[in-house]
Amino acid sequence: MLRTIATPTTVVLRALCMLHITHTYLYEFTETKGESMLPTLSSSNDYVHVLKKYRNGTGCQMGDCIVAVKPTDPSHRVCKRITGMPGDIILVDPSHLEDGPARFEQFIQVPKGHVWVTGDNLSHSLDSRSYNVLPMALIKGKIIAANDFTEPMRGNGEKRFGMFGFRWIKNTYLND
Ligand SMILES: *[C@@H]1O[C@H](CO)[C@@H](O)[C@H](O)[C@H]1NC(C)=O
Ligand SMILES: *[C@@H]1O[C@H](CO)[C@@H](O)[C@H](O)[C@H]1NC(C)=O
Repeated sequence: MLRTIATPTTVVLRALCMLHITHTYLYEFTETKGESMLPTLSSSNDYVHVLKKYRNGTGCQMGDCIVAVKPTDPSHRVCKRITGMPGDIILVDPSHLEDGPARFEQFIQVPKGHVWVTGDNLSHSLDSRSYNVLPMALIKGKIIAANDFTEPMRGNGEKRFGMFGFRWIKNTYLND
């Protein structure tokens, strides 16, 4: 008969397994960097709370902030806002691009299973305007809140910040 004994190794393995399950399916707390989501997320020292039940785009809506695998570089992840849902027609303005064949405005219809994503800082964001529609399968989760730990008490008197720079990340499309 096989007896299960909780050796330190199995305890650690179980903990790691739980951590992996949590990280994959429930929740993630991750540092973000970059200027593309200013002013919603700071360019450094910001940490985001990500709910994994929205992975693969499940339940995502127009205006949601999401974390996704970067389509042009699977080793990187991006934080963007959904600004077009499947079936939506997008007017692409490529004027911010330095080069590329299409230097004129064009319309794109977002195909099934894809979304259009942009950074809140349009002039400093690499997004669907350059890599086109994002497959929903690349969405890892939805950003619901963020912390800036350089603001231990509150952010420079700004009311929208709580302790440790906490604030909810709003859906700008539905809540404005
Ligand atoms: C976009 O990023 C640039 C570079 O960091 C910054 O100067 C600018 O203020 C940002 N725009 C917004 C709307 O925050
Ligand atoms: C992801 O979503 C697509 C449709 O959007 C669906 O066909 C697929 O089964 C989903 N995959 C998972 C792992 O949920």
